[in-house]
Amino acid sequence: MKKSIPWIIKYRPKRVEDVVNQEKAKELLIPWIKKWLSGNPPEKKGALLWGPPGVGKTSLVEAICNEYNLEKIELNASDFRRKKDIERIALVAATKRPLPPKKGRIVLLDEVDGLSPRGDEGAISAILELLEKARNPIIMTANDPWGQHLRPIRERVLMVEFKRIPKTKALPYLMKICESEGIYCEKQALAYIWEKNKGDLRACINDMQAIAEAYGKITLDLAKALVVERDRTLTPWEMLQHLFYAKYFWQAKKAVTSTDLDYDTLFLWIAENVPKQYGDDPEDLWRAMEALSRADVYYGRIKRRMNWSLLPYYFEMLGPGVALAKEKYHKRARWSYPEKITLLAKTKEQRRIREELATLLSLTQHVSKSYAKAEIIPLLKFIAQHNPQYFARLALGLRLTDEMIKFLAGKEYRTVIRIKEKLLKEMEEEAKIRAAREAKEYLERKALEVVEEEKVEKWEEKKEEKAEKVEKREKKERKREERRGGLTLLDFLNKKK
Ligand SMILES: Nc1ncnc2c1ncn2[C@@H]1O[C@H](COP(=O)(O)OP(=O)(O)OP(=O)(O)O)[C@@H](O)[C@H]1O
Ligand SMILES: [Mg+2]
Repeated sequence: MKKSIPWIIKYRPKRVEDVVNQEKAKELLIPWIKKWLSGNPPEKKGALLWGPPGVGKTSLVEAICNEYNLEKIELNASDFRRKKDIERIALVAATKRPLPPKKGRIVLLDEVDGLSPRGDEGAISAILELLEKARNPIIMTANDPWGQHLRPIRERVLMVEFKRIPKTKALPYLMKICESEGIYCEKQALAYIWEKNKGDLRACINDMQAIAEAYGKITLDLAKALVVERDRTLTPWEMLQHLFYAKYFWQAKKAVTSTDLDYDTLFLWIAENVPKQYGDDPEDLWRAMEALSRADVYYGRIKRRMNWSLLPYYFEMLGPGVALAKEKYHKRARWSYPEKITLLAKTKEQRRIREELATLLSLTQHVSKSYAKAEIIPLLKFIAQHNPQYFARLALGLRLTDEMIKFLAGKEYRTVIRIKEKLLKEMEEEAKIRAAREAKEYLERKALEVVEEEKVEKWEEKKEEKAEKVEKREKKERKREERRGGLTLLDFLNKKK
């Protein structure tokens, strides 16, 4: 068999319905896109599609673009490392309308988890700016969106989780590809390939193509000989699943040691969700909390004394200690992202905005920052929430940023922004009319000045003409007098002599 185009490209989903097993993700993402298309953009300008590799994140975005006739502007992590690049490419793409016949545009920032916590802060702040200004949907993808450095992004976007593809959904899908290729394929072989790749469809399809191209068929023996197991890490949610439902010590330990989370964050994830998962049984909960507090003690010692030999005990308490604390079965609770991290980030953000606002007010209103904080900000808050119309004018006058408006107006934020934009438009119109009127007046004035100048010139010419005439007349008169003997009597007598 000759080498053909990669199957992952050939069989990439064309339509939304072709993307298998991501119904939940579609339920979140499609209404969000539709909002954009209806001309009434959602409050969150970005969406972050996250989940393990090869489960359809990029594919779903492409299918949406196909189906809704949208243009896709795609940037990879390496393209948007530098703040300048994002500003140059993405900002233009995100704020301008597309060329017909495309109905809209999606900006896809693929693999944002490729940004490094140090070194790429510029890129992250540029993405945040992009999210503020975007007039088109911004979609990001990541395998692991839980890095501390991505927190500000997480908080401003719609988080859409993608799950691994279970065997029941994956096998029929993979089988169809074999049928389309006309390749003999054993079902157990596909099951084995799926097992080794743990739900990563891209890896499954690549393995299938590799075997098929070498041997013209896919059998279990070939699969066993050729497919190697890939290392993989668990997402925090998968870690919780493995942890809370571990039956054996080693399973629980594997769960907590197979994530990319740092030790602090791992602790927060578990501590946040233990009360949720075990909350219906006080004894199980008590035992799990006991294990957590021991883990905390170990970790404290590790940090204080740099005694890393204690790390296995930390993992033992956090993993098996928590998992085996339960004596009864608990059904899956609604787990959540650690509150503490979100809360800290939120209040920090609020403090920063308040500080900037106080600085702005102190400069423009000539008051101290503490006066601005104590007197003006509460007043502005009150006005914003009770009279958005009036507040919008104030916001314009004070040149408040959208962020500050949001801080002050709270629930009324959108109303204020709407009024502000309307006012701005009106002001622009007024300015245009004023400029036109002023231009007209200027021209008229100029024309009048010319007329005046001409008049003055004519008048001066006439004056000169008159003076000349007078002079001529005088000369003539003098001559005539001379001729008439305009001499004095004395002259006359002298002549006679
Ligand atoms: N849910 C799915 N339905 C149909 N095909 C899929 C699905 N997931 C993956 N595939 C197949 O795998 C290939 C790779 O998928 P895709 O690029 O969408 O993965 P991804 O989730 O974006 O992964 P990564 O995180 O590595 O970017 C696709 O071209 C498609 O052939
Ligand atoms: Mg992708």
